[in-house]
Order: sequence, then structure tokens, then C-alpha cells
Amino acid sequence: MKIVTDPDKMKTYAKIIKKENKLIGFIPTMGYFHEGHTSLIKTARKQSDIVIVSVFVNPIQFGVNEDFDSYPRDTARDEELARACGVDAFFCPKKEDMYPEDYSTYVDVEGLTSGLCGKSRPGHFRGVTTVVAKLFNIVRPDIAYFGQKDAQQAFVIKRMVEDLNMGITLKILPTVREKGGLAMSSRNIYLKGSERKDAAILYSSLKLAEELISSGERDAKKIIKKMRELISTVPAVSKIEYISIVDTGFLKDVAIIGGEVLIALAARVGRTRLIDNVILNVKSEKPENDHDRP
Ligand code: PAF
Repeated sequence: MKIVTDPDKMKTYAKIIKKENKLIGFIPTMGYFHEGHTSLIKTARKQSDIVIVSVFVNPIQFGVNEDFDSYPRDTARDEELARACGVDAFFCPKKEDMYPEDYSTYVDVEGLTSGLCGKSRPGHFRGVTTVVAKLFNIVRPDIAYFGQKDAQQAFVIKRMVEDLNMGITLKILPTVREKGGLAMSSRNIYLKGSERKDAAILYSSLKLAEELISSGERDAKKIIKKMRELISTVPAVSKIEYISIVDTGFLKDVAIIGGEVLIALAARVGRTRLIDNVILNVKSEKPENDHDRP
């Protein structure tokens, strides 16, 4: 496995691969790998000729009071896991090479970034799209892999790729979960003692929403209220930042559920901010008297 820190060297490597007409599969990450990351890498390994993984804790997607400094890092372990998964090139650029002092260009996707996590993390998605655009320009992937756990991020990157004619295929793979249902995340390492077990209530609330919808409920407010009630039974959840049911086109709140919807939430378990979501395809409510239809 090639280990590259210099963006120019990474570019040269990618150019050579391209000349050989080989398909590049790319997994951009912030490292501290868990099974969510390795599942993306393993899928890329099956679908591409060359697999490139980047590890870069991107400072510009963290707010001033967020966890950039304490974000978990273990590059040696990540390297080992990447090698075991058959990665061809491991790209771990330095902050000063990605953002030199005179750096002044940003990519901003409007609209999709205003709600959900965008509301409480202003500037976060601008940081994400900027770094992902830069990484795409360096690595020139044919396919890029992301996890559905960061659903809004996936929608925003998809928009950027389309709007900027990047010509990259995006593959969004299912969230990998711990035994109790908690979505795998590098930030789970922050959870103390029983918090890890308690955090599973977030996924249970999404399952509850799914059950309510299966049994015919279509009123988003009622479903959100029941989800809140369930989560509130666990004192370890110190704050529910949001629970939203939105359409998957514009990520706007829906009142009556029908078609494809994203049910997404963010909450703090102890001091740890966690997110989770499900995407459901919901049949519209059946009229009570089918024969009354025109
Ligand atoms: O999902 C992540 O790990 C990051 O947001 C990403 C896409 C690697 C950009 O820094």
C-alpha cells in the first residue's frame, strides 16, 4: 500500500492510474476507522481497480466550540486496517498543504444545507463540500463512497457533484450498527460507561417511527412527538437537537408522510453529539372509501 502525504504526489499517482484506464474507487474519511469505514473500503475493493482512502481531519468543517482538537485520531491503526482491506493508496495530507496561509476558495451548496444539522452547525457543510471538492480534484475518482449515517452530507455532496459537473458516481452505503442498534461513528469513543448502551434509544426511536408508519400513521408531528417521548425515557440523552421528517428532494419538513422521506435526528448523549436516520419509501395514505374516487 502506497502512503502519500503530498497532494501533488497523490495527483501524479492518480494521473498514472487514469492513463492505464483503471477505475479509481475513493473513500474520503476523517480516520479513526470503524466497521462503517471498512465496509465502504471493502465494497470499493470489489467495484474498482484501484482503491484510494484519504484520512484528513478537516479543520474547516468544525465550528469554534466543536471537537476538532479532541477528534479521535490513530493513523497507524487506520493504515493497518486499510492495508488489511486491500487499499492501494492511503492519502493523509497535512493541514498546511490543504489550506496554505493564502487559502481563499470555498464551495457552498445552498438550500440543502440550511436545515437539519446545518441549522446548529453553521459553516459545517461549506467545510465538507470544500474539502471533498479538493480531494476529488486531487484523487480524480470514478466512484466515491460515503455512508448513509451522514445522510444530509450525502445529499449535499450529490448536489455538488451534479451542479459542478464533476462526473463522479456516488455510492451511499447503509449505516453499519453496533449490536444494540447504535450507528457506528468515530465519536462513539466519547461515550462513557452506560452511555453507549443508552445511546441505542436513538435508533429505537427511528424503528418506532417505522412501526408507526407501517401501522398507517402519516402525521409527521404525531410521529415526532412519540419519538421524543421514547427518547426522553432515557436520562442519558441530555438534549434532543432535532427530530425531522423531510422529503429527500429538498430536505424540507413534510406534514403528511408520503413517498420517500428521510427521518433524521441529532441528540446529545452525555456530552456527545450523535446523529442517525432512516430513509423510508412510504405509500401515500389510502382513501377511506376507495370506490368514492373519481
Ligand atoms: O464524513 C466524513 O468523514 C467527512 O465529513 C468527510 C466526508 C471525509 C469530509 O471531511
